[in-house]
Amino acid sequence: MQRISLAVANWKMNGTLAEAKRWAEDFAPVAPALEGVETVVCAPALHLPLLHASLPESVRLGAEDVSAYTNGAHTGDVSAAMLADAGVDWVIVGHSERRAEAGDTDERVLEKARRASEAGLSTILCVGETLEERRAGSTESVLERQLVSVLSGLKPGELAALAYEPVWAIGTGEAASPETAQAVARHLRGLVARHWGEERAARLPVLYGGSVNEKNAAQFFACPDIDGALVGGASLDPERFGHIAKALKARH
Ligand code: 13P
Repeated sequence: MQRISLAVANWKMNGTLAEAKRWAEDFAPVAPALEGVETVVCAPALHLPLLHASLPESVRLGAEDVSAYTNGAHTGDVSAAMLADAGVDWVIVGHSERRAEAGDTDERVLEKARRASEAGLSTILCVGETLEERRAGSTESVLERQLVSVLSGLKPGELAALAYEPVWAIGTGEAASPETAQAVARHLRGLVARHWGEERAARLPVLYGGSVNEKNAAQFFACPDIDGALVGGASLDPERFGHIAKALKARH
């Protein structure tokens, strides 16, 4: 079953406007070599209009988060419609940093996914267990709760990709082993199949995220259930992110 390959940069809260512009310029020569890989840059909301104007056309724009509300009195929020208006195609919901720092619950993550879908954005849902949860043997139940609470409130067409991001692997330099990532990706795909059927599950891209770099990326892309990566730190350097995206292209 053919699934799209996705190389997604998540810059998090990094970079000035000048740095964002330079990143786009430096990445431009790499972009033509990435045909067949959906390449997405998720950046701080303030940087999105500038990136929309400066990224090569083949590179898609993504937001790191979206409001759970449509519009109105929600100080500090950015709505899905505003993102779409700024040229955004993709959005991340449920990132562990939003869950931990901004208090995003499964219920709120579902509302965010709904708003994104209403605005025509493609949603990447992040799930992942903490080290304590893994040590306690509750990885599967945590992932199931995070995934099913969102799946059960959406239609199959309303989710574009899943990302497995174990919290203990994010920003630590300690990526999950490809075996662990593959086993979880398969488990997640099985849960999707149970809710939305085999066909939808077989077509849903599943990404791995957590200390992915230009050296370890190819190992993940060799896994049958892993269709790409969500890259934090290494994506701040266009050359490193380019190597990762090229490794994904090479798997075709
Ligand atoms: P790192 O690649 O820096 O570990 O971050 C992963 C991540 O959280 C991407 O969303």
